[in-house]
Amino acid sequence: MGSVFISRAIPGDAPGLLAAAGHSVEQWPEDLPAPRDALAAALARSDAAITMVVDHIDGGMLAAAPRLRIIANMAVGFDNVDPLVAADAGVWLTNTPGVLAETSADFAFGLMLALARQVVASAADTRSGGWKSWTPTAFLGTDVHGATLGVVGMGEIGEAMARRASGFGMKVLYASRTRKPELEDRLACRWSPLDALLGQADFVSLHTPLNAETHHLLGPTQFRSMKPSAMLINTSRGAVVDQDALVAALRSGNLAGAALDVTDPEPLPLDHPLFALPNVIITPHIASASLATRSKMAAMAANNVIAVLEGCEPYNPVNRPLHPRV
Ligand code: DGY
Repeated sequence: MGSVFISRAIPGDAPGLLAAAGHSVEQWPEDLPAPRDALAAALARSDAAITMVVDHIDGGMLAAAPRLRIIANMAVGFDNVDPLVAADAGVWLTNTPGVLAETSADFAFGLMLALARQVVASAADTRSGGWKSWTPTAFLGTDVHGATLGVVGMGEIGEAMARRASGFGMKVLYASRTRKPELEDRLACRWSPLDALLGQADFVSLHTPLNAETHHLLGPTQFRSMKPSAMLINTSRGAVVDQDALVAALRSGNLAGAALDVTDPEPLPLDHPLFALPNVIITPHIASASLATRSKMAAMAANNVIAVLEGCEPYNPVNRPLHPRV
């Protein structure tokens, strides 16, 4: 039976599932992630690991962990581990697709509404005594219903966002490598090249994975092509956006606002210029953070570990080692 390292406290009963399958569990006890050395040492004494998006694992750490057979990332994204590097080392890498799309889209849609209607700024102002009277000009926002949403990346979460938008009477454009005719019929959304989408959208919501192709997908040129009244919602990965270009666009009035659940780096230092801008909402990477969804993600990661330690293939592989470690 194996020993499994879980890199944080996680909701649900993943440790129980692992124990019931006969495995021993070591769990990182602190609120903050294990520093690199501690993470490397834990991997080196484990047969399997359940890791988070903040646990960056490289080839050197895998080479120093010869027993490690699987990294089960408790996330759908896996930009913290290179799947090919893991495969070369004989280590399975898995993720948690399917269970977090609706929860994440709820949050992305909520961020869009909150940004458009100044929910965060007006609530803070009210709490600090700013509400003196009903005022016809206070906190005038932007309508979401009837506006055009540009969805960038039409995977599970992008689709769930588009579905919500069509319920709000929004016109939906999407940019994605693969065109999805069935979805276009079902949701009355339209495929568009990214630059045309950026020129037309009132709200742009990012749902791409982070990889070499999507790194800084939105930079100075893209921000210049957006409507000055447009707003950006990012629940994907911070580095999909060139953050300096975003600050410049917001400062110059080239863009009306941004709601960011992800930043580069995370956490964003408190003296970062984005925190000084009134038309920005920043949340701490919590789009998938409902108790039910995070519990399902944890259970999926545990089941992937159990499968591999029993000599089977995992349920949700994102790589395929030619010679899996045994
Ligand atoms: C993911 O799943 O990739 C999120 O960013 C964390 O839930």
